[in-house]
Amino acid sequence: MLIDIHSHILPGVDDGARSNTEALDMLRMAIDGGVTTQVLTPHIHTGRFNNNKKDLEQRFIQFRDAADKANIQVNLQLGAEVRIGPEIMALVNSDQIPWLGEYQGRKTFLLEFPRNDIPFGSDNLVKWLLAKNCLPIIVHPERNRTFLTQRHKLQTFIDLGCPLQVTASSLTGKFGKDVQKMSEELLEANQVSAIASDCHNLKGRMPDLHLGIAAAKNIISKKSIEFTMDTTKKLITAVDKI
Ligand SMILES: [Fe+2]
Repeated sequence: MLIDIHSHILPGVDDGARSNTEALDMLRMAIDGGVTTQVLTPHIHTGRFNNNKKDLEQRFIQFRDAADKANIQVNLQLGAEVRIGPEIMALVNSDQIPWLGEYQGRKTFLLEFPRNDIPFGSDNLVKWLLAKNCLPIIVHPERNRTFLTQRHKLQTFIDLGCPLQVTASSLTGKFGKDVQKMSEELLEANQVSAIASDCHNLKGRMPDLHLGIAAAKNIISKKSIEFTMDTTKKLITAVDKI
């Protein structure tokens, strides 16, 4: 069993797959790499990708039918990658986030920080989310310049209980040596709850979870990998399946 909790395969909703054809080919590539459960996590980024839950659910059902018709055998689930910002409070209050699952009594979702900085008050927003019984999974912290250069700022979120998701391509060195080193260090410190592809297309940002797992196996023990995969599975336990 191999679960990929982060992908931009759902077509036409963000900067990921542009067509059904491309999306189905991405699914086939993921399956070739051993993926058995693929979570589709479009961006929800107010002002850039104004996706809402109802539309995403409709598109998800259409795409799942298309995959069925194409005889593609994989378990598909819907989630979202939500950009950090005050808008999240309204999304949570109006139940507009397609939850990834439920973990330790809290609803989980992927939380994205900007490329460079950590917006002021992010820790307070996470505390607010926790009080609302929501558990944000911080995606690719190794790709954020501030987390990369001031690691104690990431520790704040680890201490609050946020699971971390490292991107497969970070472990294979696609984003440079610094990013690779940080993702390796997080793995070695047992601070990684999931490795995911965050795939966007067929070239450049393709479904490559198996390559990330292979890289991880060179760094940590088989037992630690299994522990990470087991945690991943728990994070996506579906709450309300579509
Ligand atoms: Fe993403």
